[in-house]
Amino acid sequence: MSMFYSLRSVLIVHNNAKERGELAVAIRKTVDCTVLESDSPERALEALQEDEISVILTDLFAPANAGLELLKKASKLNTQIVTIVGVPVNQRNLALEALKFGAFFCLNTPYNHEETIIATSRALQHHDLLTKGEVRGRKFRKSDGFHGIIGQSAKMRQLFNNIEKLAAEGDSSVLVLGESGTGKELVARAIHAHGPRSRKNFVPVNCAAIPEDLLESELFGYVKGAFTGANQAKMGRLQYADGGTLFLDEIGDMKASLQAKLLRVLQEKEFEPVGGIKPIPVDVRVVAATHRDLEKSVSEGRFREDLYYRLNVVPLQIPPLRKRKEDIPLLIDKFIMTYNRQKKNPFKGFSHEALQVLKQYPWPGNVRELENLVQRMSIFFAGQTAGCEDLPEKYQGSDGTAQEQQASEPQEYSVSMDEGGVDFNLLVNRFENQLILQALNMTGGNKREAAKLLNLKRTTLIEKLKRKNIQTGD
Ligand SMILES: Nc1ncnc2c1ncn2[C@@H]1O[C@H](COP(=O)(O)OP(=O)(O)O)[C@@H](O)[C@H]1O
Ligand SMILES: [Mg+2]
Repeated sequence: MSMFYSLRSVLIVHNNAKERGELAVAIRKTVDCTVLESDSPERALEALQEDEISVILTDLFAPANAGLELLKKASKLNTQIVTIVGVPVNQRNLALEALKFGAFFCLNTPYNHEETIIATSRALQHHDLLTKGEVRGRKFRKSDGFHGIIGQSAKMRQLFNNIEKLAAEGDSSVLVLGESGTGKELVARAIHAHGPRSRKNFVPVNCAAIPEDLLESELFGYVKGAFTGANQAKMGRLQYADGGTLFLDEIGDMKASLQAKLLRVLQEKEFEPVGGIKPIPVDVRVVAATHRDLEKSVSEGRFREDLYYRLNVVPLQIPPLRKRKEDIPLLIDKFIMTYNRQKKNPFKGFSHEALQVLKQYPWPGNVRELENLVQRMSIFFAGQTAGCEDLPEKYQGSDGTAQEQQASEPQEYSVSMDEGGVDFNLLVNRFENQLILQALNMTGGNKREAAKLLNLKRTTLIEKLKRKNIQTGD
């Protein structure tokens, strides 16, 4: 979900300066956002008029509940603002009131820092989701590339042309091909966003990430009583995509029985929910993607030939990054901007030599690998310029023959401590980040695999990523 980035800011409205300040520090430290403070609803309103606020965290301001009035006004000023209300523990009934007023979340006051940090980062994620539609609808802006796809090489400009034509035409299935990390999902979104279907939903379904037995009901939905536990009907993603675009990512991993059902949708333009008998008409454009060689899968009998031809009406091939090296500096700039946003101590980028080295590197993980590298460097070289010697070893041989770094290579972490002491939390946090990012890097952003490498439970890793606001590629 790291496609579009928004400026994120949180406004804390609380009358006790000391408590407010401590809370602000705690949030700033763990959540990637700007934190603003106000001591009263009146001041808060001024701040809301001046700044673009993503999330507001306010007390109720008893006895008149001016906090609730503030919510109302805030939502009028900015319909996408996400609100959190602090309610005194002994007045739980007011929480319901706050929710009725449109609060996204209620917290007990006095605030528990950890709880507040979690609520705030969730609220920011929700805000990101809300604002994405807006950004998606926007057309060309240089820093955003073509609907978020950066690239000025001839190959990419040709791709943008093709996307434009396809988007205008609106209906035929598209098969997006390209190595992992080349931006297949971005291309699918651009096809949707650039044409008339953008008024309806873009619905992504990752066929490799959803367990086989769930994928069918995810796609088609089910009727009440379809199986034990189906206490009520559930709408499938196909239906959400009605009038819009269904993005079937990693289609090469779809099992045979589902391939047959999908073929039917494409042919008949209707489908049946699991357990249902009445076909439901649906109008979707299917954009499918895979990093696999589908033709080979067809010849080996793993992918239906008829479905392959149905999907492959228009193939779009995204070139690997090593075939369009002139895009590398542009992408680096974009990612530096992204990861520096709202940072007090921004990463200053790469030295000229380091940039030359990066241009020579073959990028087997394509743009995703490049993005991960920049993210990592911007954490470890905050406030600095990174030279060749600062690059991870595998990037260093500048002759273009750099090999994958040995995964098992032992690493030593040492810190020098003098009389001034060290910031324990900061260092431990850095060390954690380093391990996590390294694991994610090695697994191409796959959290389950990364958790395995780290010997962590997947849920623990996900919680940490949220806490640290590390965005992964999926
Ligand atoms: N041309 C590009 N411009 C900007 N970001 C890109 C580009 N190509 C890929 N990315 C980013 O790289 C990551 C991987 O892209 P994704 O679409 O998931 O790749 P794929 O599905 O082909 O493996 C995402 O974070 C995406 O936003
Ligand atoms: Mg993908």
